[in-house]
Order: sequence, then C-alpha cells, then structure tokens
Amino acid sequence: KRQEKNIRQILLERLPKDIVSLLQLAGQTGQELDVAVYAVGGFVRDMLLGIPNDDIDLVVEGDGIAFAQDLGRKLGARVRPHLKFRTAVLILPGGQKIDVATARLEYYEYPAALPIVELSSLKMDLYRRDFSINTLAIHLCPPHFGRLVDFFGGQQDIKDGIIRVLHSLSFVEDPTRIIRAIRFEQRFQFKIGGQTERLIKNAVRLNIFQKLSGARIRHELRLLAEDSAPLDAFIRMRDLGLLQEIHPLLHFPQTKEALLEEIERVITWYKLLFREEAPDIWIVYFLGLVSGFDTHQVQALTSRLRFPPKRIELVESTRRQLRYVAMQLAQWGKNEGSAADLYDILSPLSLEGLLYTMAKQRKLELKKAVSHYLTHLQDVGILVTGSDIKKMGLEPGPRFANILRAVKRAVLNGEVRTREDQLKYARRMAASLQGQEPKAVS
Ligand code: CTP
Repeated sequence: KRQEKNIRQILLERLPKDIVSLLQLAGQTGQELDVAVYAVGGFVRDMLLGIPNDDIDLVVEGDGIAFAQDLGRKLGARVRPHLKFRTAVLILPGGQKIDVATARLEYYEYPAALPIVELSSLKMDLYRRDFSINTLAIHLCPPHFGRLVDFFGGQQDIKDGIIRVLHSLSFVEDPTRIIRAIRFEQRFQFKIGGQTERLIKNAVRLNIFQKLSGARIRHELRLLAEDSAPLDAFIRMRDLGLLQEIHPLLHFPQTKEALLEEIERVITWYKLLFREEAPDIWIVYFLGLVSGFDTHQVQALTSRLRFPPKRIELVESTRRQLRYVAMQLAQWGKNEGSAADLYDILSPLSLEGLLYTMAKQRKLELKKAVSHYLTHLQDVGILVTGSDIKKMGLEPGPRFANILRAVKRAVLNGEVRTREDQLKYARRMAASLQGQEPKAVS
C-alpha cells in the first residue's frame, strides 16, 4: 500500500540550503514541463537517517532527458544524456552531479507477472531497485513538494534497521546485490531480514556468483573494503559461504582475522591523517587475504577477479618486496638504525605496501617506525640543488648524486636543517671528494 506523509519540514531542516534550492528548482522545472519529479534512493534514505549525502538521484515521470536539458540550462550545468536508457547526468559548475532517470511504463520488460496497468511508472521504477530502504521517493513539484512516497515499507525498515529485497528473484536478477546487502548491513549497523537471508543462502546453493563477471565482483569487494567495518563485512561474507563461492581460496581462516583487523586499524589511522595520496584500500586487504599464499594461488585469484594488469603488477611487485623489507626492518630494529636507514628500507614500497607492512609488524616499535616514515620521513626534501654543488667547483657526474644523497641522509637524521647548514654539509662533502680526485675546472 502506498503511504504518503509530508516531510517538507524535515527536509528544510536537515538539508543544506543549496541542496534545498536545487530540489525546488527541479520541482518547478517539472511543473513547467508538466511532468512529476521525485528525489529517490540513497539520497532520501540518508536524509531520513540524518546522514549527509550530496548524490541526488531524480526520477521523472515523463521525458527525463528533456527535463534534464531544461534544468541544466537553468543551472548552467553540463548535461550528458544517455539516449538508450533515457537517463542523463547533470554536472554543475561546482562539480556536483545529479542523476536523472526516466520512469515510463513501456520501458520495463519485467516483472512480467505483474498487472502493469495498475502500477504508476514511479512505482515500477522503484520496484526494480535492490532494497526497500532504497525505494523511498520525495515529490518535488510545488503543490506536493516534500511529500514522501513509500510503496514498499521502506520507512518502517529504516526504523527497524532491516535490509529487505522487494521480491524473491532480486538476487537472481542481480547477484551483486548480495554483496551490497552486506555492505549496507555493516554501514548502517542494520540486519539483513530473515527471508532475505534465506534468499541469499538459496542463491549461494544455485552457484549464483558463477555467472557473474570477475570485474563486477571485484568492484563490489572494493566498495566493501572502502566502506565502514570491512572486516566484519568479509567475515559475514565468509560465514554466508559467499567468499568461497567466488573462489575457494578466498575463504580465510579465523587465524587470518587478526591481520585483517590490524589492516582495518592501520587504514583508519591513515585516513585520519587526511593525506592527499589515497591508497587502494582493497589492495591492502587483498594483500592480507593472500598472505601466506604462493604465486600460483595469488594468480588464481587475480585472474578470477579480473584484476587489471596494473593492479596485478602492484600486487606481485609488492609481494616480492615484502619479505625482504620485513627482514631488513627487523635488522634495523635490532641495530637501532638511523632514520635515513629506515628511509632506504621503506622508500621502494608503494603506499599499499607500506600500510600492509605497518599492519603486518607484530612489534610495536616497528609499527611505529613505519608510521613515523609515513608521517615524517617520506616527504622529506632537501634545500640544496645540483647547481649549488656546481658552484662549489665540481663537475656534474655521479658524485653529484652521492653528495645530494648524503645531504638527504643528514636531513633525515636531523643533523642539518636550514639551507645554510645543508650547504655547509655539502661543501664539506665536496671538499673531501675533491681531495681524492683532480680538481674540476669550471
Ligand atoms: N541499485 C540496485 N541494484 C544495484 C545497484 C543499485 O537496485 N545492483 C539501485 C539502488 O536502489 C540504489 C540506486 O540504484 O538506491 C543507486 O545506486 P547507488 O548509487 O550504488 O546506491 P546508493 O544507495 O546511493 O549507495 P551509496 O550510498 O553506496 O552510494
């Protein structure tokens, strides 16, 4: 039964002003074109949950592309239409995107068994979606602005914290929804409903993932790794038999959970640094999932999950480095090595390799060493250049690099700081080198 409720007030209170104006403008545009316009999906869900979300999805009962072009003109936005699906993306001058979809009866091929005539086109559009919590719509056209439309009990499920599919073929039609269900469950701390969980188990028995391309599975696994509580999500996947269904080698034993938990902790820590360089979080988890595997086993997985060549190279080269780095790091710890030595050990690693190494270290001092490298050493630069050294009367050549390297080591070790000190240090190095070889003529 369709339930309607006015949430205009909540909308005005919870959403940023610029988003409210956007929605109002979209509604007015719809009214002018005589088509109904709704905000739908994750945007509505998150608003009810009080979670900020700028990804606006609109559904138009009518010509979505014409609507998008009109709204785009008013907003000075670029409009990218997709004629085949009658959808469009608006890209606003500030970079924000709005997705527009067309809801039209003749567009739908399924579900064949339903009495189509009785359904509004909005309802049909929402019925194609994954979970009830994603099927809420808000009417945007002026007389109805702020009216919440709930065909499938989404409000109640949001209140109860339940992830529920709309019909029993949902996972057969789109198996990636199984991974999405787990992702939403962890993100919102919701629970997959009883019937929905039975449908998942049933889908597993039907080997549902066998038909799914590796690339699509990998994409969903990556989203899982980047969302909240990835370890719990992976454990849930494993316990439902999903990981082993994708590939038997993905089934990780309980003994690996400590490492994965440590990876989660390290990534949370790294995110809090707000560094510009973002790691491929999924790759860090993948390194954890395949720890202890041989090359063939890793290749079996990267090929099942259709890793692109560059990611395969990243995984393989990192794995080649890891053992050696771990050995050197242990030595470094024992010998109480310098910061410059630490730099030499860690600088060949990718960011993913560094985070994995930090997670993998059992000794707290070594974990701290990697974190110190990430926060303090990796970006250290020097204030002396090649042309400074040339002015010291040295011919350009391999010795230049040696001198610059020595200065860098001194800076890393905190022996010199200012440019003056660095120049002095370089001059001393140059002089001692000049003593060994004929003086250069400038
Ligand atoms: N959807 C679906 N089946 C999928 C993927 C998406 O039915 N396999 C639907 C969902 O109902 C969702 C909408 O398409 O509301 C948009 O997808 P997406 O942007 O991925 O979902 P959000 O709910 O916005 O999720 P997120 O917050 O992770 O962006």
